Amino acid sequence: MSKTYLVTGGAGFIGSNFIHYILERHQDILVVNVDKLTYAGNLENLKAVMDDERYAFIQADVCDREAMVRLFEQYHIDYVVNFAAESHVDRSITDPGVFVSTNVMGTLNLLDAAKSSWKTGEDSYREGVRFLQVSTDEVYGSLGPEGFFTETTPLDPHSPYSASKASADLLVKAYGDTYRMPVNITRCSNNYGPYQFPEKLIPLMINNCLNRQGLPVYGDGMQVRDWLYVEDHCKAIDLVIQRGTLGEVYNIGGHNEKPNIEIVKSIISYVAEKVDPSIDERLIRHVSDRKGHDRRYGIDPTKIREALGWEPETMFAEGIRKTIDWYLENRQWMEHVTSGSYQQYYRAMYVGR
Ligand code: NAD
Ligand code: TYD
Repeated sequence: MSKTYLVTGGAGFIGSNFIHYILERHQDILVVNVDKLTYAGNLENLKAVMDDERYAFIQADVCDREAMVRLFEQYHIDYVVNFAAESHVDRSITDPGVFVSTNVMGTLNLLDAAKSSWKTGEDSYREGVRFLQVSTDEVYGSLGPEGFFTETTPLDPHSPYSASKASADLLVKAYGDTYRMPVNITRCSNNYGPYQFPEKLIPLMINNCLNRQGLPVYGDGMQVRDWLYVEDHCKAIDLVIQRGTLGEVYNIGGHNEKPNIEIVKSIISYVAEKVDPSIDERLIRHVSDRKGHDRRYGIDPTKIREALGWEPETMFAEGIRKTIDWYLENRQWMEHVTSGSYQQYYRAMYVGR
């Protein structure tokens, strides 16, 4: 039966990959992408599906309550997949306010709009609907050298970004517990792959290598992140939508832990091999550490593996090559992002068509 996905933040990195993923795998769906188009939103990511009749784009802010209510009046929405967020830790340190507005209040607006649209009686909702909150392992705080985050690890966010994501998670949980809303929360580790904005570690390092610019490594570079290829993440989210137990939290990660410095060195070596052997580790610059920098993230994915049979398919050695190859084959995408011209893309492609 036909299903309508409301994907928020679909013009961003993971959201756009997710839209490609579901349109390729499900025939009979409608995808409504709602995005404010902040600096991180780029409709060029969705060029290939723009004319697909199963896809619609609406520019709107999740903080606009009435606009969110109107969306549910306009479309018969079955699934909400909430990616819309301010997502960069460094920006949250300099400007936390917008993180609270979008990540917390925006999620509250979506929950309320979904609740009133889906409600069929006291604590009952239309059959088959679901609200999936896309969260992060950063809500669990930082690990020492041993152990992993499980779904029962207490929340202990350190940055304004992770505090805003944890707040949103608690609201989603509260709507499940209080109003019996059909919700799920997924918490994944650091994603990488095509269409990632070059403020994040991996695309920043690729771009700087290609431009022979310094590679800023925060502190000693021994902070550990658990890298997840974005398509594996998309697959996990769609599995939770199709078969996850309502009310549950699922951690998503694939035991791909690496210290940042190792990531940077592997990027240098592959870019040197593909582009120019004179690109080397002399580009590395150790700069001041991030305030409150979490030392290590590591996910225990046992629950999603046992409950839904999810396994990551792309290990880091392969994923990083695929990612660098994508950026090399899509130099124009990066040029449009770094020159700022991607922000005119919407006007050129949509206005007056
Ligand atoms: P992104 O920054 O690339 O994209 C965010 C998107 O949300 C952009 O298209 C932006 O325009 C849109 N947006 C921002 N504010 C909005 C608003 N007020 N209303 C409507 N749209 C708005 O982020 P991403 O890396 O794709 O992350 C997506 C989600 O996944 C986020 O919720 C993030 O917290 C979570 N997450 C990301 C990672 C990661 O490694 N990138 C890891 C764990 C969790
Ligand atoms: P980032 O991609 O910002 O993701 P997050 O902070 O959400 O994990 O950063 C990944 C890691 O790389 C993190 O430990 C910070 C570090 N980092 C650098 O060392 N240099 C940089 O220029 C950036 C952007 C990040």
